[in-house]
Amino acid sequence: MTPLIELRKVSKYFGPVVSLKDIDMKVYAGEVHCLLGDNGAGKSTLIKALSGVHPPSEGQIYMEGQPVSFSSPRDALDKGIATVFQDLAMLPLMSISRNFFLGREPKRRVGPLTVYDAAFAARVAREELRKIGIDIRDPDQPVGTLSGGERQSVAIARAVYFGAKVLILDEPTSALGVKEAAVVLKYVVQARARGLGVIFITHNVHHAWAVGDTFTVLNRGRSYGTFKKAETTREKLLQMMAGGEELEALAVELDLIARKDPTPAARMEQQAAQALHEPDGG
Ligand SMILES: Nc1ncnc2c1ncn2[C@@H]1O[C@H](COP(=O)(O)OP(=O)(O)OP(=O)(O)O)[C@@H](O)[C@H]1O
Ligand SMILES: [Mg+2]
Repeated sequence: MTPLIELRKVSKYFGPVVSLKDIDMKVYAGEVHCLLGDNGAGKSTLIKALSGVHPPSEGQIYMEGQPVSFSSPRDALDKGIATVFQDLAMLPLMSISRNFFLGREPKRRVGPLTVYDAAFAARVAREELRKIGIDIRDPDQPVGTLSGGERQSVAIARAVYFGAKVLILDEPTSALGVKEAAVVLKYVVQARARGLGVIFITHNVHHAWAVGDTFTVLNRGRSYGTFKKAETTREKLLQMMAGGEELEALAVELDLIARKDPTPAARMEQQAAQALHEPDGG
């Protein structure tokens, strides 16, 4: 099967900063591909390369086997890659339907004029949201009145409606409570069921594990590789995200400090060091 999206040896440099180095990754239709990594690992840089925000310095992106490059997020969207950013590009005071069609407003003719077709927008927004299980009372209500999870869901429904093949979600659940996160994870699963390839970026291994089919772990701009769910465990992913050896070194250091200094503070450090050795470190 040809991947929907493939990255071959993609690197990104910002002056002397190496944000990504030689990343290989394949995303297939009908899979949730989780992109994991600690702060600064390069996750956002990777999706910016994929969504046309900034092109890679080296390497090549392929879409359905053909080399592609994206000149802007709009260009990527036109080619079927929809990105939902954490701080959604939504206007809180504008209506749900207006946000749904933001940048792609439906028009109708009134005599010599073309005007925004509000009735069409309201009807489609309501229908599309109902399809994914959100019943909005009023498509004209401001987006700002929706919860964080609902807003993420509107963004996902929008991407599906406009025919995205690849849906990229950058930390969609990080600011959400447990119930809200569950709602968003449900839509991730629904997008997969519709045959989209979903790239799901998160710090949260538990969220990733709940919906992911494959996992790519980044650490300091490099990839530890891609693993199928059956080939790995949650604990292994956590270890990789944290950079296993770095955690070990930190634990040893804390332990040494504690031995030299048997004060209460040092005892607490020692406990912290022990906690780091425990497999499911939090
Ligand atoms: N425009 C830029 N100019 C210079 N350096 C950058 C730029 N964008 C990202 N970087 C650097 O690239 C590295 C990776 O950053 P990136 O934002 O991709 O990480 P991340 O995995 O998304 O982290 P987080 O989990 O905190 O969102 C960091 O060291 C960051 O400082
Ligand atoms: Mg980021």
